[in-house]
Amino acid sequence: MFSFFKKSSKEVDLSFIGTDMHSHLLPALDDGLQNMADAILFVKELKQLGYNKLITTPHILPGIYANSPETILPVLNNVKDALNNLEIEMPIDTAAEYMIDHEFEQSIKRGDKLLTFGDHYILIEMSYVAASPYLQQVIFDLKLLGLQPILAHPERYSYYHSNFNLYTELKERGCLMQLNILSLAGYYGVDVKKVAHKLLKKEMIEFVGTDMHHQHHLHTLQLFAKKNDLYKLLKDAPLLNSTL
Ligand SMILES: [Fe+2]
Repeated sequence: MFSFFKKSSKEVDLSFIGTDMHSHLLPALDDGLQNMADAILFVKELKQLGYNKLITTPHILPGIYANSPETILPVLNNVKDALNNLEIEMPIDTAAEYMIDHEFEQSIKRGDKLLTFGDHYILIEMSYVAASPYLQQVIFDLKLLGLQPILAHPERYSYYHSNFNLYTELKERGCLMQLNILSLAGYYGVDVKKVAHKLLKKEMIEFVGTDMHHQHHLHTLQLFAKKNDLYKLLKDAPLLNSTL
């Protein structure tokens, strides 16, 4: 499976990851890619890196990114059509990245349709400014619905950095965690990198994602993927990406 060991450090092959399950590739829905040409280009580049499936996750943040299945699914179909027309083979699906706030909690309670992926997984995130007071309730409510919450980029919440027990508590509540690959590269700073490495070492991470928004992310990932560090870091991690 881990045939990358035989590859030279200059070759790039992220195929051992399998599926990328966090990105903002659907055009003009959020702060990610803004047009179809870029969406096609990025799909091609991710395929080139070795990914064999993409589950993209537009932000859902009422008032800022007012997305819903009604806004997201037609754009997914447009991208699929464009890929088909260009004979680019890449399975692509969509879920969403739900901001945990009062509105999301209400949305769960109302029984609104939620965009999930894989084995009833749902991707959730918090603000980078402060922890959400709704986090515990949302995890509880989602699990009550039979959904499995995955917290996006836990390493990026700096207000958790001084108390690692907060991560442990989240795991004990049954929340899975998704690490941004670029955090390991130091893209978001030294502190984020340290916590990313620690979470990975303690086997608290089930998924890795690109969280791809723009050209700078892509370029950094392409450079990082050329380094053996990345393979060494991820080779023993109990990741579930390839099950998607
Ligand atoms: Fe994201």
